[in-house]
Order: sequence, then C-alpha cells, then structure tokens
Amino acid sequence: MSSPASPDQMGGQTPKAFKPRIFSGIQPSGGLTLGNYLGALKRFVEKQDEGIETIYCLVDMHAITVWQDPAKLRQQTREGAAAFIAAGIDPARSILFNQSQVGAHAELGWIFNCVARMGWMGRMTQFKDKAGKNSENVSLGLFAYPALMAADILLYHATMVPVGEDQKQHLELTRDIAIKFNNDYGVDFFPVVEPLIEGAATRVMSLRDGSKKMSKSDPSDQSRINLTDDADTIAAKIRKAKTDTEPLPETVDGLRDRPEAKNLVNIYSALSGQSVAEVVAEFANTQFGSFKPRLAELAVARLSPITGEMNRLMADPAEIDRILADGADRADAIARPILEQVYAITGMIRSRGK
Ligand code: TYM
Repeated sequence: MSSPASPDQMGGQTPKAFKPRIFSGIQPSGGLTLGNYLGALKRFVEKQDEGIETIYCLVDMHAITVWQDPAKLRQQTREGAAAFIAAGIDPARSILFNQSQVGAHAELGWIFNCVARMGWMGRMTQFKDKAGKNSENVSLGLFAYPALMAADILLYHATMVPVGEDQKQHLELTRDIAIKFNNDYGVDFFPVVEPLIEGAATRVMSLRDGSKKMSKSDPSDQSRINLTDDADTIAAKIRKAKTDTEPLPETVDGLRDRPEAKNLVNIYSALSGQSVAEVVAEFANTQFGSFKPRLAELAVARLSPITGEMNRLMADPAEIDRILADGADRADAIARPILEQVYAITGMIRSRGK
C-alpha cells in the first residue's frame, strides 16, 4: 500500500462533500420490458423531474459480456435511447449517452479490476445465475462486469443510483470498491453511493411464473410485456398471465404466498400511482376475470403513448445518434477530470499534451 495522495496528486483538491448526482444504466441487450420501465425508466424520469442532476447510460460495453449480434446491438441501443426519451427523459436536462462513446468507463473499469478481489466477484449471484454450470466458458468480462458497473457510477462521483432490486448486490460491491480504493490510497476521493430501490415495482415478476423476474432474456415472450408490444399483444399477455384460483384478497397481507396475484397488484399499483393498499381495497374479492381487463386497460393507457413515441423517434436514427453524441460529450466533460485525478492518485505519469 502506498502513502496517502498529497493535495497535489488530488489535483489540488481537499476532501469534499459530494453534490447530489444520479447515475443509472440499462443494457441494450434486448428490447426493454415492463420491468425495466417500472423498476428503472419511470423512476429515472421522476428523479430528473425532481431537479437532481441525472446521467443515464445505455451500457453497450456491459451488453457484450454475452454475445451480441452487432447490427442488433446498434438497433437496440438506439431503441433504448428512444425509450428513454419517449418515457420522458429530456436530453437537454439529463445526460443521455451510450457507454462506449466515453472511453473513461473502460479505463476506470480496468483500475477497478485491480481493486476488486476475485472472492468478491465470485460471490455475485447474477454472475452465478448467468454462468450456471458453464462458468469455464463464459467471458472474462461477465466475471468482471460489476467492476465496470462500479466505474460507471464512480466516474461521475454519483451519489445515488436508482435501480431495481436485482442490482442491489452490485451496488454493495460498488461501495466496497469505493471504500477499498479510498483506504488503499489514503484518500477521500470516491463517494459511498446510495442505492435507490423504491416503490411497488422494484421486482416485477414473470407473467408465467411468479417466482422468476420478468426479463428480456427469458425464452418465453409471453413472460414479459415489451415496450414495443402493441395494445392487443399487451392485453392478450395479461389475459393469459398465470394466477391462482382465489379472488383478490381484502388486505395486503392476503397477498402473501400468492406470488402471481401479488405481482399483478404491484404492477397495477406502479402503473396507477396508487399504493398497494389502495389497489387491494379497490379490488377486494374481485375475480381475476374482472381484474385482468382493468389491468390491461391501464397498461395500454400508460404504455401505448410511449410505444408510439418510440416508433416516431426510431424513424430518424441520425437524430438519436446526434443526441447520444451530445450526451457523450457532456458526460466526458465530467468524467475525464475525475479519471485524471484517479491516474494521479494511482501514480500514473500523464505527460502527453502538457
Ligand atoms: P438491466 O439492463 O438488466 O436492467 C436495467 C434496470 O431495470 C431494472 N430491472 C427491473 N426492475 C424491476 N423488475 C424487473 N423485472 C426488472 N428487470 C430489470 C434493473 O434493476 C435495472 O435498474 N447492471 C445493470 C446495468 C448497469 C447499471 C450501471 C445500472 C450497468 N452499469 C450503473 C446502474 C448503474 C443491468 O444489467 O441492468
């Protein structure tokens, strides 16, 4: 371990209080789902509208930790950007960009590969789930994935990260990396980030199996609602969603041990803005045969304007690329000076261009 960095190595700065700044990301590894919308996108818009500085990223470098067809990756990255904007992200107020356009992510990711410990990474449940029995054959990038995620966040000295429940462990690792870096180098350089996991839809479940997360990588398209689904498809998927045979309960407690019922009520709550208790009160003793059409109607009312706007935006890919380039320039302007301080702290000579 080296001696603490001097103020000179810290770019002349003394330890600071970090200003509130939000960072979050979504992988363009497939079409976005209702889970992504309720667990992430919708809340990204709320945070932007609260007036906090917000930086949102399509993490294409994360996506290639598993195989991506290049043409599809390009298409899904643009579609992801269109979804952000259609859902209410204003690229003038928030910074919206794709990760690979800001090289500082990969650079800090490498440094964090040297901070994070093998044991920490080996405990990541998402890695274990994704690798399954095939861990000798998955990419090294999939194993290192959470260190790059920590870099995404800490590169901006972000203090808050809105995510769904499934990202909690990765954010704990981000905190561990920040703390270890600060300790190893004797600095107070990286903030300890707060995960924002809030609301009724932090874990939207599959429509076919209430014990599995709704996911863009589920082989069954019936398991999820995609942001590109039309009204008839959404209604049909909800109509066919798995449920039990009981009517809806009279109390929130009555949803316990009824994962499919709980999931549909949570989705209704998140889409309507009503609390789960209010939804349960409104639909107490209602059969699914009556509840499902109401849920479908609500989902279509909320999602079809977004789908329509996405389609409109996708007709002009050059405009999307221009927005991503502008976002990347603004992201880079924040990230580069922070990365240069990291290089100084870690003892790298940076004499070019001086
Ligand atoms: P990803 O692309 O899998 O998902 C993007 C966001 O959507 C949330 N989400 C859900 N929320 C509720 N219910 C669901 N069924 C559901 N499915 C997905 C995720 O929790 C996430 O918030 N590792 C991240 C991407 C990432 C990132 C970051 C996030 C890379 N760098 C930095 C935050 C900060 C991921 O794979 O998300």
